[in-house]
Amino acid sequence: MRKKVTVVGSGNVGATAAHWIASKELADVVLIDIVEGIPQGKGLDLLEAMPIEKRDCHIIGTQDYADTAKSDIVVITAGIPRKPGMSRDDLLNTNLKIMKDVVSKAVQFSPDCILIIVSNPLDAMAQAAYKMSGFARERVIGMAGVLDSARFRAFIADHLKVSVENVTAFVLGGHGDSMVPLPRYSTVAGIPITELIDPQTIERLVQRTRDGGAEIVKYLKTGSAYYAPSAAVTEMVEAILKDKKKILPCAAYLEGEYGINGLFVGVPVKLGAKGIEQIIEIKLTAYEQEQLNRSAGAVKELVGVIGV
Ligand SMILES: NC(=O)c1ccc[n+]([C@@H]2O[C@H](COP(=O)([O-])OP(=O)(O)OC[C@H]3O[C@@H](n4cnc5c(N)ncnc54)[C@H](O)[C@@H]3O)[C@@H](O)[C@H]2O)c1
Repeated sequence: MRKKVTVVGSGNVGATAAHWIASKELADVVLIDIVEGIPQGKGLDLLEAMPIEKRDCHIIGTQDYADTAKSDIVVITAGIPRKPGMSRDDLLNTNLKIMKDVVSKAVQFSPDCILIIVSNPLDAMAQAAYKMSGFARERVIGMAGVLDSARFRAFIADHLKVSVENVTAFVLGGHGDSMVPLPRYSTVAGIPITELIDPQTIERLVQRTRDGGAEIVKYLKTGSAYYAPSAAVTEMVEAILKDKKKILPCAAYLEGEYGINGLFVGVPVKLGAKGIEQIIEIKLTAYEQEQLNRSAGAVKELVGVIGV
């Protein structure tokens, strides 16, 4: 039987994630949204592309959670995106209400699924979904680090004029202005970028990574980034469905790791069929740990506001 992925929210990120998932033939896809017709129309359009793409994926759009039953993965992108001048945190209360609505329904029909949370503010929404679902922490994962590190990788590759395939990068912490890109652990063909790029330029690339989302919001004006975010979701989906045991930076519920307790924060994890199969603790310098603590503090504040 083919794998099944439900994508809740059929807007920019959700529909584009469905596109990437189907174009890689990873699973059948169910698109769901509160707006009638949108998931049906986009789902049908994507289904009709499959003969051209030579992919055997079945895609449907629906308003009925019964159609999502027994999904292996449920990706939650439902919610409002930010507009110019807004921070991700400004979305807190609206998206919390939406999260409450969708998590209970999704979990009712797919009690054994793995949840990938995308809606912002990411870490707080992942924490809300974790608490509402009652799932083990291995099965609730927030998408942010894969995107943030992909942005950092793109900027490094562009600056050095090397293949993106040669560049790895690590970004830890919350998905906000206090995210923590780690130049020491970012490499080009195994060479730390600190050996290849001067400190001022690294700082500029780091800052551009932190502002990566806002840079795109400023251009688009009516929405936020979605190609790279949905590609990041798809990398996580692939790692889980193919049990790849891939090490990726994801938002995970920490229980003492990195000295942080009871909070979703971005850390390196091993993603496989069971979801988060390991949280990898790397040695941080005092400065990096301080930055991570600051980032976790920002998440804690938000989580406190919504009481999850
Ligand atoms: N984690 C990340 O790195 C990251 C990256 C990009 C976007 N995001 C976030 O993802 C979310 C979606 O972004 P987008 O650009 O796709 O927005 P969008 O407005 O294009 O799509 C959101 C969709 O959610 C739907 N929706 C709203 N309430 C719903 C409900 N109760 N049930 C089902 N569907 C519902 C809307 O109708 C809309 O179609 C935003 O919160 C955005 O901030 C996160």
